[in-house]
Amino acid sequence: MPYVPPHRRNQVPAPAAGAESQGKSLSDLDYSVDRGRDLSVDRLAEATGYKYNPKGAPSRFGSAGRNPHRPLGEGEDVPGGARLDEDGMVYDMGGGQCTYFQDRMRQYPFATETAGLALLRRLLLVNERVFALSDARVNATSDPTETARHGEHLYVMKPTMKSAPKSAGMAPGRHGEFPPPGWQALYLRLKSFQRFTESWALFERAAARGVFDPWLQLDLVSLDLQPSWEPYLLALPEPAEAEAGGGGTTYRFAQWDIKAGVDARDAAGGPLDLCLVSNVLVYCSDEPSAAVLAALLESGVKAILLNERGGEQKMVGMVERHGVVVAKLLDQDSAAGRDDRQLVFAPAGTSLPSPSGALAHVFPNVPYEESKQR
Ligand SMILES: C[S@@+](CC[C@H](N)C(=O)[O-])C[C@H]1O[C@@H](n2cnc3c(N)ncnc32)[C@H](O)[C@@H]1O
Repeated sequence: MPYVPPHRRNQVPAPAAGAESQGKSLSDLDYSVDRGRDLSVDRLAEATGYKYNPKGAPSRFGSAGRNPHRPLGEGEDVPGGARLDEDGMVYDMGGGQCTYFQDRMRQYPFATETAGLALLRRLLLVNERVFALSDARVNATSDPTETARHGEHLYVMKPTMKSAPKSAGMAPGRHGEFPPPGWQALYLRLKSFQRFTESWALFERAAARGVFDPWLQLDLVSLDLQPSWEPYLLALPEPAEAEAGGGGTTYRFAQWDIKAGVDARDAAGGPLDLCLVSNVLVYCSDEPSAAVLAALLESGVKAILLNERGGEQKMVGMVERHGVVVAKLLDQDSAAGRDDRQLVFAPAGTSLPSPSGALAHVFPNVPYEESKQR
C-alpha cells in the first residue's frame, strides 16, 4: 500500500502531553479532526499543536498562537495558486509570485518571487528522488499505514514531550538508532522546505559577512551519527549530473559522532574548509563538543555556519571562552530579544563586519521573524 502523505488524508491533532505516560497506546489516540467546520482559536491550537508560548522561538519571533491563517484542509489549495507538488507545499501564484509552506498543517504561508520559485522547482525535483526512497522504506514494513501513522505521531509528539528521554523515540537518531521509517519520511517531506530555505538565507547572511571564498568546485561531505541518511544524500544530484562527475560538485556521507573523539577530518577523509551545523546543537551543547568545534577552527576550518531552532544557544558562550569569534546573523535589537538561530563561528581574530544595509533575501522572513518588534 502506498504511503499517504499527511496532507492527503485526515490530519493528526497533537495528542495531549503525557498521553503516552498515562498508558495510552497509539491506537487509543484520536487521529481525526473535523476539517469541515470553522476552527476556533482554541480548537485550532488543539488541532495544530501550536500554542502561544512567549518563551518559544515560534511565538517570540513568529506568529505561532496568533496566526490569522487556518490550516489548509485535505486537498485544499491556496486560492488563486497552481499547486506544484502532490503535498501542496509550493504554489505558483502567477506573475512571478510563489506561496510555499514549511509546516505540516500548511498554516504558515511564506512568499518568494521568481528566483525563489525557480529554486523551489528544483528542490521539488530532488524531493521526488528523496521521497521515493523514504516511501520505499515505509512500504517495506509489514504495515505501511501504521508505520506512517506511528511516524507522524512521533513527529507531532516531539514538541510536547520535552521531558521524555530522548531515547524514547522523541528525537529519533539521538543515539544512532535507525529512525522509525514513518518519522523519517515525514521529516524529509517537511524539513526539506524548511532546511533548504533556511540554509539559503544563512548562506546569504554569511556571504554578506565575507565568509565565502569563490569556491569553484565543491566536495560536500555530510557527517552524522545516523548512517541511514546516506541514501538520501546520494540522491541529491541529478543522476545524469552525478554520472558526468557532478558538474564539479561531489557528495559523500560519513558516519561521525562528535562525542567519540574522532577528528572530523579523519571521518571525512580529508581537510575541511567550511562546516554547516544544522539543528544538531540540541544534542551536543556540552563542553567537549565546544572544544571539538573550537579545535576545527584552530586547524584550518575557515568558518562554521549554524542554523538552529532555539533562540538561545548555550554553545555561543562555550565557544567564545575558547576564543572563537561569533557573529549573530539575525536581528538582536528587537523587542523579542536575543536570537541565536543563525550564527557564524570563526577562528580567533577573524573580522566579520555587519553588512551596512538591509539584505535582500530570496526567501524573505526565513527563519520567521514576522513578529519581531523594536
Ligand atoms: C534534528 S536532526 C537534524 C538533521 C539535519 N541536520 C537537519 O538539519 O534536519 C539531529 C541530527 O543530529 C544527529 N546527531 C545527534 N547526536 C549526534 C552526535 N553525537 N554526533 C553527530 N551527529 C549527531 C542525529 O543523527 C540527527 O541526524
